[in-house]
Amino acid sequence: MSLEYRTDVSASGLSQDQVQELFQSVKWPHAQVPERLMRALAHSEILITAWDGERLVGLANVVGDGEFYAYIHWLITHADYQRRGIGRTLLAKLLAKLESRNQVFVFSEMRYASFWQQMDFVILSADTEDPHGEPLVAGYRWHPIPGVRYESNDEAEEF
Ligand SMILES: CC(C)(COP(=O)(O)OP(=O)(O)OC[C@H]1O[C@@H](n2cnc3c(N)ncnc32)[C@H](O)[C@@H]1OP(=O)(O)O)[C@@H](O)C(=O)NCCC(=O)NCCS
Repeated sequence: MSLEYRTDVSASGLSQDQVQELFQSVKWPHAQVPERLMRALAHSEILITAWDGERLVGLANVVGDGEFYAYIHWLITHADYQRRGIGRTLLAKLLAKLESRNQVFVFSEMRYASFWQQMDFVILSADTEDPHGEPLVAGYRWHPIPGVRYESNDEAEEF
C-alpha cells in the first residue's frame, strides 16, 4: 500500500462514486444523498484527501471563517483502511494549516474522544446523544491570536 495525501484536489476533482463509496464504508447516511454530499463538499475551506493509488481512502475538510474559527467538518478513513494512522495524518495536516486560528472545533462520537485528545483537543461535553443514541462529544483547540493582547474579563457584568 503506498499512500498519498493531497491538498491540491478540490471537491470538483473528486468523483461522486469515489466520495459515495468512502462515506458508505463508514455507514454515514450522507452517502444516500450523493448530489447533496458533493455540493456540501464544494463548500470546504480546506480539503485534504488520502489515496491508495486511484482509490480515495480518506478525507478531511474544514469549514470556517478563514481567520479565527475553523470547524472540522468531516474526517473519514475508509473502513478497509482504519487503524493505520491515516486519520491521525489527515488531522495533523489540517491542523498544520490552522495554526493561526484562534479556535478549532469538532463534533464527534464519544468513542473517538481519545483520538481527539491525542491531538490536543479539549473535550467539552460528553452527555449528549445523536439521533441513533450514540454519545457525542464536542472538542476544541485554542490558540492565542498572534499580535493580540488578552485582558481579563473578570469585571464584566454577569448576565
Ligand atoms: C475517526 C477515524 C477518522 C479514525 O481514523 P483512523 O485512520 O482509523 O485513525 P488512526 O489509525 O490514525 O488512529 C489514531 C489513534 O486514534 C485512536 N482511535 C482510532 N480509531 C479508534 C476507535 N475506533 N476507537 C478508539 N480509538 C480509536 C487510537 O488511539 C489510534 O491509535 P492506535 O491505532 O495506535 O491505537 C475513523 O475511525 C473514521 O473514519 N470513523 C468514522 C467517521 C467519524 O466518526 N469521524 C470523526 C468525526 S468527524
